[in-house]
Amino acid sequence: MGDIFFGVDYYPEHWERSRWETDAKLMQEMGIQTVRMAEFSWHKLEPQEGEYDFTWLDDAIALLAKYGIKTIVGTPSAAPPAWMINKHPDILPIDTMGRVRGFGGRHHDCQSNPTYREYIRKMVTKLAKHYGENENVIGWQPDNELGNSHFDLCTCDNCRKSFQNWLKDKYQTTDKLNQAWGTAFWSQEYNDFSEVFTPRITVTGENPSAMLDWKRFCSDLIIDFTKEQTDIIRKYAKNQFVTHNFMGFADKVDYYKLGELFDFVSHDQYPGGFYLPETATPHEKNHVLAATLDVIRGYKNQTYWLMEQQSGITGWETMGRAPAPGQLSVWALQSIAHGADAIVFFRWRTCAVGTEQYWHGILPHSGNPGRRYEELKTTMQEMLPLMKKMQGSMPKAEVGMVFSFEQDYAFQIQPHHKDLDYIGQVQKYYKALYDQNIPVDFISDKGDFSKYKLLVAPLQYLMNPKLEEKYMSYVKNGGHLILTMRTGVKDDNNLCMTDRELPGRLSEITGMEVLDYDCLRNAFVKVEYQGREYQANIWSDLMHLMPETEVMATYASEFYAGEPCITRHAYGDGCCYYIGTEPGEELMLQLMENICHGANVEKLADRIEDVEYMTRENASTRWLFVINHSDKRKEIPQITGYTMVKGKKMGVLEGYEVQIYEKLK
Ligand code: GLA
Ligand code: ZN
Repeated sequence: MGDIFFGVDYYPEHWERSRWETDAKLMQEMGIQTVRMAEFSWHKLEPQEGEYDFTWLDDAIALLAKYGIKTIVGTPSAAPPAWMINKHPDILPIDTMGRVRGFGGRHHDCQSNPTYREYIRKMVTKLAKHYGENENVIGWQPDNELGNSHFDLCTCDNCRKSFQNWLKDKYQTTDKLNQAWGTAFWSQEYNDFSEVFTPRITVTGENPSAMLDWKRFCSDLIIDFTKEQTDIIRKYAKNQFVTHNFMGFADKVDYYKLGELFDFVSHDQYPGGFYLPETATPHEKNHVLAATLDVIRGYKNQTYWLMEQQSGITGWETMGRAPAPGQLSVWALQSIAHGADAIVFFRWRTCAVGTEQYWHGILPHSGNPGRRYEELKTTMQEMLPLMKKMQGSMPKAEVGMVFSFEQDYAFQIQPHHKDLDYIGQVQKYYKALYDQNIPVDFISDKGDFSKYKLLVAPLQYLMNPKLEEKYMSYVKNGGHLILTMRTGVKDDNNLCMTDRELPGRLSEITGMEVLDYDCLRNAFVKVEYQGREYQANIWSDLMHLMPETEVMATYASEFYAGEPCITRHAYGDGCCYYIGTEPGEELMLQLMENICHGANVEKLADRIEDVEYMTRENASTRWLFVINHSDKRKEIPQITGYTMVKGKKMGVLEGYEVQIYEKLK
């Protein structure tokens, strides 16, 4: 987006006006080029119904512009004000327990409520008309972190009607609905669409087919809610971009579809989040951070922005650790290495009021520039010329990892095993690639598989003939494919497949069928691979092989000891691996190393603990990032054929140092 590479999230409305100019000056000195503002400021923009007041925002935009800083306007629909809620209490969402969620946090709204939607249309139209041609405004962010703060999506009567209409559109007749949901079970048949409920807490388990459609509906509702805003913005703001701050693997809305509404996607990255499991050591988390950035790049298969990059201790009621000197820069540079074209830090100054008093900004409460300001200033200044050159360049991955929201939904509804979750499983495969310094693209199951040497497709549980066909032709045309346990189990309605043994028609490429299985509840299984014994978890598929299929590993415990566990089958010009269990970490790494080797996939470097390698490239240039995630000095092999463009000394990485190398192609 032009020449903008660094920014901050700014809340001038939280501070005295007399401070604003000091902020603008400090930002300019630091290298800040843009701010995002106003995304929660409904009341400041419309203090009483129909009385709009944008003067404070006009003034802030103009003042910042004097210091060369452009604005991204957030629409305030994540925070409907008290006057509105009091006048129309039905805007408040109702959770699955049937309880009204009250005013006082944020996102206390029902996204299908027609009154609320009308207020939003008015507000966004006013904003877009007012700022759509302001040369100091470069872009827009409708709402904030759509889908966040909605643990239970709303189940009110409006949502019920919207859901019924959505179902009518999808199925046309109740006969089709009854069939798709398997309502013969427990007398759940519907005579009319108006009889369908939104899911409230039930006495016993819910209908998995109904729940899958409910999750799809909720995702579509969020998209529809957002599209109403992006349509208005685009009408009046023809030369400004529209983006949104996504949250990595967050699940409420299908980000591939949501991404279609935007010029590019943005992401909020908080590596030190106090919400991460206490046991996660920094190294355990690094692959998750990397995967999160890669999946963001995958949603539109293009470079992205960081709209909120951590700038200090995170925390609401409790807090995370202080980022060590250098660590904030490491995290920002990791975002860039995986494809960020701009980094906007959250937030400018640590807030003195409200819920986020301990979610620290670049400046502390006092407003005096300190360690974080100095560190990030240096990083911005060093990186600016490089960012200009790198803009639009992409990592080039030889491995694709299929990631699907629908598979995630299906496993949320029926996880099978207390330790099985779809995203966690995807990340386990990812880790084995990350640990070998092999770049990975996340790809939708509707994307183009053909550019990858190796395609990893864990847990392809919901299956349809079109997707089967895609996997089969990928392998036939020379691709190496990994399929796993729980593949081809269900159709798109979340009903079990009954025509053939698992994995259905895909058994033509896997060269095996699953005749039985074992859920490893409170247990694990031993697996023998290349003469060594390893641990595997969660699940054992018991299979029957076609004669030409190769056994790569066998079970070494339980009543099925000696039977095949991991197989390889040549098909057409390619081959398909089937992994009938969840390999433990050691087995996973070993196995993935061999599979990558077999597919001729290149590693960027041999593994050094806590050191990450990543590349970006465009038609003329390739950059190699080497990132030290630890505070320890690391010896690294000399990098030949490249020029060092950032870094202290070749062959040595200081603690929390990032080096960048450049090569003309
Ligand atoms: C999210 C939101 C921000 C802020 C931060 C910190 O990422 O988008 O508004 O709440 O978290 O909590
Ligand atoms: Zn509702």
